[in-house]
Amino acid sequence: MRLKHCHNFEDYRALARRRLPAPVFHYIDGGAEDEVTCRKNVESFENVDLVPNVLRGLGDVDMSVQVMGQKLSVPFYCSPTALQRLFHPDGEYAVGAAASAAGTMFGVSSLGTVSLEDLRRKHKTPQSYQFYFHKDRGVNRAMMERAKTAGIDVMMLTVDSITGGNRERDVRTGFTIPLRLTLGGMASFALKPRWVFDYLRHEKFRFPQLEGHIDMSGGAVSVGNYLTEMLDPAMSWDDAAEMVAQWDGQFCLKGVMSLADARRAVDIGCTGIILSNHGGRQLDGSRAAFEQLGEVADAVGDDIDIMMDGGIRRGTHILKALAMGAKAVGIGRYYLFALAAGQKGVEHALNTLKSEVERDMKLMGCTSLSQLSKTNLAF
Ligand code: FNR
Ligand code: LAC
Repeated sequence: MRLKHCHNFEDYRALARRRLPAPVFHYIDGGAEDEVTCRKNVESFENVDLVPNVLRGLGDVDMSVQVMGQKLSVPFYCSPTALQRLFHPDGEYAVGAAASAAGTMFGVSSLGTVSLEDLRRKHKTPQSYQFYFHKDRGVNRAMMERAKTAGIDVMMLTVDSITGGNRERDVRTGFTIPLRLTLGGMASFALKPRWVFDYLRHEKFRFPQLEGHIDMSGGAVSVGNYLTEMLDPAMSWDDAAEMVAQWDGQFCLKGVMSLADARRAVDIGCTGIILSNHGGRQLDGSRAAFEQLGEVADAVGDDIDIMMDGGIRRGTHILKALAMGAKAVGIGRYYLFALAAGQKGVEHALNTLKSEVERDMKLMGCTSLSQLSKTNLAF
């Protein structure tokens, strides 16, 4: 499958399935347990309809948004995701470059495979850093200090992963970090010799964000085990408040779902929240972020920047989220599948989504995203 045959999310997914070894594809594609929340994330957008306005005498449309003190040329950003160099040897370099070309923000994960400093030097586009709160508080402070020195624009503290989600696909395939080729796993890797060749030929696989802070030499662990063993389940609102104070800049919580928690995020001085269930990879049975959005935006939308992620597959999904009160939305699998074709792939995917947003704005009768409101939605 080639990029020129990719027209939507399912096409990028099919491309990734062709190019990646099965355990790697399933790590991206899968979710927790019965993957109910994964499916709900997408379906939630289908339960709300768009109501367009016509005869507006439209000229050019402006797709830009202002969020977390950053100006983005499009209303979506690349949500931070782990292990990108497994999906293509250029990994985060490719995603950073494509996000830059699209004029949007990208996130670097604590489990990223390229250093946040390298990416910062290469790209001027807004860069966020996704923080995993480790058991060692000293390590947390040192990691934040490092991100500050590097010039990270937005800090995102992930709060939905104090223990690993039950990802049964990863258990079955034996997917671990660093990769450990089990006999069964080896067979599926042997089916993708080009991927293996690329993986072995390129720069050694590393976790630059953790180096010097966390000892990863203990052998291969599943991603779920990493989250369970390394992250601190005792993380509290006081810890988050301390981080907000130390960071002293744009700071958001990623993975808030309830209105009570959204209010608390305002109280501790966060500048943003991301409604998210981690792409259905953590708590299966969790509600979709889009379904929580209206209530939370009505209550605290004037006090804090609200973003959401999970299930974004179409430009219309983005317009629905913005009409409901989000300032911007994050995408995960959409760009990760395309990353199997490197920077060109991610650029292709971001352009596909961008052209959908532009066309959909025209069909909705709006030239600026701030014109969208709940009057454009029917339930
Ligand atoms: C993620 N996500 C994620 N989130 C986070 O806070 N830190 C991380 O390291 C990762 N890693 C990661 C890896 C992979 C392979 C996926 C698919 C997702 C979650 C991500 O940021 C985002 O919340 C979801 O991907 C959004 O859902 P969609 O767009 O994939 O449906
Ligand atoms: C994931 C982690 C690493 O979702 O956040 O795989």
